[in-house]
Amino acid sequence: MSEGFFLTFEGADGSGKSTQARRLFEALQAEGVDAVLTREPGGSKGAEEIRRLLVEGDPGRWSAETEILLFFAARRDHLERTILPALKRGAIVISDRFSDSTRVYQGAARGELRELVDTLHRLMIGKEPDLTLVIDIDAETGLKRGLARNSGEDRFEELGAGFQQKLRQGYRALLTDFPTRCIGIDGKGDESMVATRVRDALKGRLP
Ligand code: TYD
Repeated sequence: MSEGFFLTFEGADGSGKSTQARRLFEALQAEGVDAVLTREPGGSKGAEEIRRLLVEGDPGRWSAETEILLFFAARRDHLERTILPALKRGAIVISDRFSDSTRVYQGAARGELRELVDTLHRLMIGKEPDLTLVIDIDAETGLKRGLARNSGEDRFEELGAGFQQKLRQGYRALLTDFPTRCIGIDGKGDESMVATRVRDALKGRLP
């Protein structure tokens, strides 16, 4: 009866977390480990459909409350169809973002929404990662890297430098809120330097 391991990567846009999640996934696969790489918003068919509603279009498209409900609808589908089945068979599940993103992003936009996010998480998700790596990068570098991609998915990036600054503060507060689950990783430097920090942080923690 293996239970798997649920690892999430968090950080502001352009922090490099998606690259690091993929690198770790590929390294584990090369070692013959049963690993699954997934992402939010998305990670299952229905959740990917909801993703398009969230990341494309006008920044003012949804009210903050509606947006939170869409994130949780997507997350619930992702949890039911991708994360839990993989954990049940004993896999290491690596998710690029999870509930902490909603805590930080939607909480950064409107602080009083954090309680709503925590309540919805408790009611509809009820699962925390076994471990969360928070990649920290300064706001300007993150914004530059994010917009340079020109992905057409810039709804959140378009909120600007002040918002990036709030995100960084939000992620720092998360490290204090969940000191045993969350580990901060310095996102400065090139990809392989950060990858080494990630592997060091994971030493002795992965099953
Ligand atoms: P993501 O695909 O991780 O974008 P990136 O690769 O640029 O980091 O996430 C898309 C956007 O959605 C990103 O700007 C963060 C935002 N987001 C939230 O605001 N709340 C959430 O709960 C999640 C999962 C993402």
